Amino acid sequence: MNVLILGSGGREHALAWSLAQSPRQPVIHVAPGNAGTADLATNVQLDIGDHGAVIEHVRSNGIGLVIIGPEQPLVDGLANALRAASIPVVGPDKAAARLEGSKAFAKAFMDRHDIPTAASRTFRRNEAAEASAWIEQEGAPIVIKASGLAAGKGALVCLTKDEARTALSELLDANALGDAADEIVVEAFMEGEEASVFVLTDGKDFALLSPAQDHKRIGDDDTGPNTGGMGAYAPAPVMTPDLSATVVETIVRPTLEGMAAEGAPYSGILYVGLMITNEGPKVVEYNCRLGDPETQVILPLLKTDALTVFEAVANGTLSDLEVELRDGAAACVVMASAGYPGAYEKGFPISGIDMAGQLPGTMVFHAGTIRDADGVLRTSGGRVLAVAAHAPSLEGALSRVYTGVSLVSFEGAQHRTDIGRKGLLRRSGASGNSSQ
Ligand code: GLY
Repeated sequence: MNVLILGSGGREHALAWSLAQSPRQPVIHVAPGNAGTADLATNVQLDIGDHGAVIEHVRSNGIGLVIIGPEQPLVDGLANALRAASIPVVGPDKAAARLEGSKAFAKAFMDRHDIPTAASRTFRRNEAAEASAWIEQEGAPIVIKASGLAAGKGALVCLTKDEARTALSELLDANALGDAADEIVVEAFMEGEEASVFVLTDGKDFALLSPAQDHKRIGDDDTGPNTGGMGAYAPAPVMTPDLSATVVETIVRPTLEGMAAEGAPYSGILYVGLMITNEGPKVVEYNCRLGDPETQVILPLLKTDALTVFEAVANGTLSDLEVELRDGAAACVVMASAGYPGAYEKGFPISGIDMAGQLPGTMVFHAGTIRDADGVLRTSGGRVLAVAAHAPSLEGALSRVYTGVSLVSFEGAQHRTDIGRKGLLRRSGASGNSSQ
């Protein structure tokens, strides 16, 4: 079996790694990939926005399965084009990907199907005065979101009315996020602990992967600006079996049934970002793909052969398969360039990856890396790599990960030192509450 993975981040390296573990020994192509995927797959220079070029690559290389990593090609309808060409694909059609591509659609959908989420109102760009009046009436804290895709920068948590006024003006007057803010969603602030639930679905049946927790802020104790995610661990103890059952019945099942009833059946991976509030779990956002860096911890916890699982998702045969998860826990810590999530320099040599990768149960997943003409591994992005590990316990996984992190270096490297702390605290009986 030949498989094509689309994307270039740590998520796609972890996907390639999981397929490379398969006893079925698939041939793996990654487009465009990174220096890490080049070690276990063939990197392909393809414009993944060009649907015809992707189909041509699939046909000329005997690819039997395509896994689409990032959201933009899904929102742009690449999965529709592949399905129309009878190519098995993991990823929802354009109409289903609106759950991530349009926050306005997602909020209205949740209202239509009584799916718990924060109360909200949607405003178009020409309704700035109404949005402003609403914010003055509701007060702070309050959350303002660009409805469209904004590369993780679209949700502004405003703790004061002044911050909310500034956020509104940046989105609507200064056009900071362009067309993504042609509609904005203003929603009530939710307090609680966040968790990420990943649903594999072939449009008929579904199975859950291990629930995870991301760390979105750059600094320890959830301080500083938001990032793409600085580390993750799974399973997240906040998602008890009872809570998981509640999430399935009040959120996952109504979402999948609701999308099917509205003529947009969802097939692929549904990532439900949750806030576990005192009133129960509520949806913060839907994403139409795997999370990054959550993938780097949930795939090492997948016991069933990953190739067989993704094939079943693409071919509609999930009911024939029992998706089993491994015991124990996994954690990962992202190492980022100095200055990230703001401006950063690239091109610094990276050392220590081989040593870290030889620690027991430990993997290094590349994100922003390239190999120069002399074969030297260098930084080429904000999030450079993640050290990930699996162990019998969360403590063990974190210990392996931080040992790995201590072995890897590049100029200006920054990482959080508190990944997994909320999970450890919760296991010891304390709450790990934070906020949106
Ligand atoms: N970890 C956040 C995301 O993938 O969107």
